[in-house]
Amino acid sequence: MSSGFGLLYCAETGSNMGLWKDAKQIAKRDPAARGVLSVMLLYPGFHALIFHRVSHFFYKIHLYGLARWNSQFGRSCTGIEIHPGAKIGHGLFIDHGMGIVVGETAEIGDNCTIYHGVTLGGTGHGKGKRHPTLGNDVLIGAGAKILGPVTIGDNARIGANAVVLHDVPADATVVGVPGKVVRMQGQPVNHADELDHPTVEDPLESEIRRLARHVEALEAAVKHQHPETELPEDTADDYVI
Ligand SMILES: CC(C)(COP(=O)(O)OP(=O)(O)OC[C@H]1O[C@@H](n2cnc3c(N)ncnc32)[C@H](O)[C@@H]1OP(=O)(O)O)[C@@H](O)C(=O)NCCC(=O)NCCS
Repeated sequence: MSSGFGLLYCAETGSNMGLWKDAKQIAKRDPAARGVLSVMLLYPGFHALIFHRVSHFFYKIHLYGLARWNSQFGRSCTGIEIHPGAKIGHGLFIDHGMGIVVGETAEIGDNCTIYHGVTLGGTGHGKGKRHPTLGNDVLIGAGAKILGPVTIGDNARIGANAVVLHDVPADATVVGVPGKVVRMQGQPVNHADELDHPTVEDPLESEIRRLARHVEALEAAVKHQHPETELPEDTADDYVI
């Protein structure tokens, strides 16, 4: 059975080196790894990839029931639930793994890293594209939730436990709930600096000017109907605020 799985895996990845390459990538990126063989034998994240390649193969040839059965079997073995429809690039490193959910229309680029407890989920019951798209070399910290059809740019880093509901640019670091960009290419981002204070209109001032213009119009109407009425001479633009 396992050799059948291996053949399907190769068919899905389009390369008889896919399995080996994925394991090598994981071994390279995990400082705790003791070699490629230990990754192949002991890493649930790697086993989840094998299950997924097979499920995705079945999904693509419209054997949806078989695809789902295989992915659920993989889930019970690894604690990682990847919908058969999800598209996953090469070199994905799923560290620890338990509690990960990847939705049907999620897409994951090459060489991404995902820790335990991550959700790449949807936000509603609508059909069509409803799950996130990750670029290449993206890192998603433990427990982070990325929800909806958002795009996470290449090299972006999502902090542990962040909740991301909007697109994230390439090279950004996002933390918090809801997720906010705190670093761009490693440099701190101060959102207050993005506001051009001298040109930003004061909302209170604009409201007072609007009211003054209304009063002026009313005064003009009163003056028109009752010319004898005494009214002040100044106009809305005379107000200094
Ligand atoms: C987000 C992350 C990638 C940032 O790493 P980094 O580039 O080294 O950035 P820093 O540690 O300098 O943090 C940048 C800022 O975000 C804050 N921050 C970092 N991670 C955070 C998190 N998960 N939640 C909230 N704030 C966080 C830092 O306090 C810092 O704030 P400051 O600018 O006010 O000092 C990293 O903190 C992270 O969460 N990695 C996930 C690791 C993981 O899940 N490991 C599980 C192993 S089992």
